Amino acid sequence: MPLDPISEIKSRLSIEDVVAPYVQLKKIGRNFKACCPFHQEKTPSFIVSPEKGLAYCFGCHKGGDMFKFIEYVEGVDFKGALEILADKANVDLAAYKTSGPKITKDEKDILFELQGETAGFYSRNLLETEAGQKVLEYVRKRGLTDDSVREFKLGFAPDSYDSVYSYLVNNGFKKGDAVRCGVLISKDTAGEKVYDRFRLRLMFPICDDVGRIVAFGGRALKKEDEPKYLNSPESPVYHKGKVLYGLNLAKSHIKEQDLCVVVEGYMDAISSYQAGVKNVVASSGTALTVEQLKIIKRFTSNLAFSFDMDSAGREALFRAVQNAQPSGFNMKVVTIDGFKDPDECVKNNPENWRKAVLDAKYYLDFYLDDFSKKYDLADLNQSKEFCDLYLNILKGVAHPLERDVYLKKLGSKLALPYAQLEERMKFLAKNSLRSSMSKIEEEPRKTSISLQEYFIGFMMNFKDRFAKYLDDKHADLFEDNLKNIYKRLASYYNAKACLDDSVLSEFTEEEKEKLQVYALYVDNRVSEWTSAEVEKEFEKVFIKVKTDSGKRKQKDFAKKIREAVLSGDSETEAKLLQEYATFIS
Ligand code: UTP
Ligand code: MN
Repeated sequence: MPLDPISEIKSRLSIEDVVAPYVQLKKIGRNFKACCPFHQEKTPSFIVSPEKGLAYCFGCHKGGDMFKFIEYVEGVDFKGALEILADKANVDLAAYKTSGPKITKDEKDILFELQGETAGFYSRNLLETEAGQKVLEYVRKRGLTDDSVREFKLGFAPDSYDSVYSYLVNNGFKKGDAVRCGVLISKDTAGEKVYDRFRLRLMFPICDDVGRIVAFGGRALKKEDEPKYLNSPESPVYHKGKVLYGLNLAKSHIKEQDLCVVVEGYMDAISSYQAGVKNVVASSGTALTVEQLKIIKRFTSNLAFSFDMDSAGREALFRAVQNAQPSGFNMKVVTIDGFKDPDECVKNNPENWRKAVLDAKYYLDFYLDDFSKKYDLADLNQSKEFCDLYLNILKGVAHPLERDVYLKKLGSKLALPYAQLEERMKFLAKNSLRSSMSKIEEEPRKTSISLQEYFIGFMMNFKDRFAKYLDDKHADLFEDNLKNIYKRLASYYNAKACLDDSVLSEFTEEEKEKLQVYALYVDNRVSEWTSAEVEKEFEKVFIKVKTDSGKRKQKDFAKKIREAVLSGDSETEAKLLQEYATFIS
């Protein structure tokens, strides 16, 4: 029987192969250890277990199987991770598509058509209705020409819960399809009661690279409406991380000019296009994903970023740079001093924007200048931060000659010798692959799982070896959330007289994940111990769990007895004392 794609991928790839490109793995017993790729740390708490197929950080509690790992590290959803790993494993996902209840091409076409019709409705509502005139005025006031409105198919979603609904149903579309692509929202699970998702918003249709409408972004028209931009949810035709706003119009220009200008917002892209910089796409407020970069690569290897210079924009730029370095992009950064974003720059003077794009700086020079302005080099701490941030960028530069040139430039800025900088860069390359622009996070607490979880971890890691301790009467030793888990483990053991992997089917996905993490924690801790040492540790844990629980109960008794004494309730007092006597005996 052919495996499903997930099992097939897991059978072809090992967790350590998947993780290795992102961190420096160090073998310790059965497992690997590394500094966590998800948060900054100096002592490694990220554990990779080949046997369990898990990669998990006990510092920041992120991780899981290879799919979870890729989701976190690449910032993609499950589908994105599936595609990345299928690619790596040479698994053809298309081969599995026919068997599943997945959406067919015809069904996709219906969603394209439905959203095309919806865009037409919004557009007429903007251009041909009285309510639309006010919105059109707003659009013009923001500096967009009627040509831009037409080219980008802007529209207006009326202040109504059922206009789009009625329109679509009257035109023969099914409610279910409209809900599926997010134009309507269903109130009940049966999908009977539905209403319009976008109300009183300026609508930006989002197209795929061939111009089919796959989703919408809707800008609030009242200041107090949240969110400012409401976007369609992911759907069979819309995967946020794989779409670039404006690409359908920009692609020929990107190819022609061999450059792709990347901005953050819908308005930025339209304004730029209108100002004559037509080789422009918007990442729509997120960091540029690896998937999006792959698409751009089909048209050019040259990027010019113009993100907002607020902290979110800086973070997005840093991420984009790090995502783009491995694919050999040549990157520049456009600076527009004095303006919040390209849209405002264009509105003020389109010529300034055109010039800014022409004057874009090579990213390694940009960061040198930018950091020089931002950090006070007379302050040692600020110099250190400057140095490390810059080296974190430099270490991703592929060509040694280029690294060399910029290491020298950094050296003269900071008045530091080359050799030391190089050494520091190598250290950073080893110790934190994905560093962030933000300040180093505080190291998370070290005791990452509780004693009771540790106890359960022994059961899960060694299965039968310690299962004899799974006894119903011990369930009371555990806190409520674990008591439940403990009871189910115990009853499985009682019924089957053994504990094995299929016990996991008794649990929800979330619980399963927790149990696997506890097991991994134990495995990592004891992986180099002898059998006898492990036995001893377990005994110790068991006793500690019991005494802790005893202490908790004793405290409980003490409190209740005190209350009974104070309230003069001698009957309860006597009863409690009796119970207490049995408890300690
Ligand atoms: P900005 O908040 O910078 O807005 O978001 P903007 O593009 O300058 O919009 P205007 O000029 O105020 O109209 C940048 C981009 O981030 C996404 C949108 O794609 C937006 O264009 N975004 C922002 C959202 O998806 N949701 C939001 O609530 C805000
Ligand atoms: Mn703006």
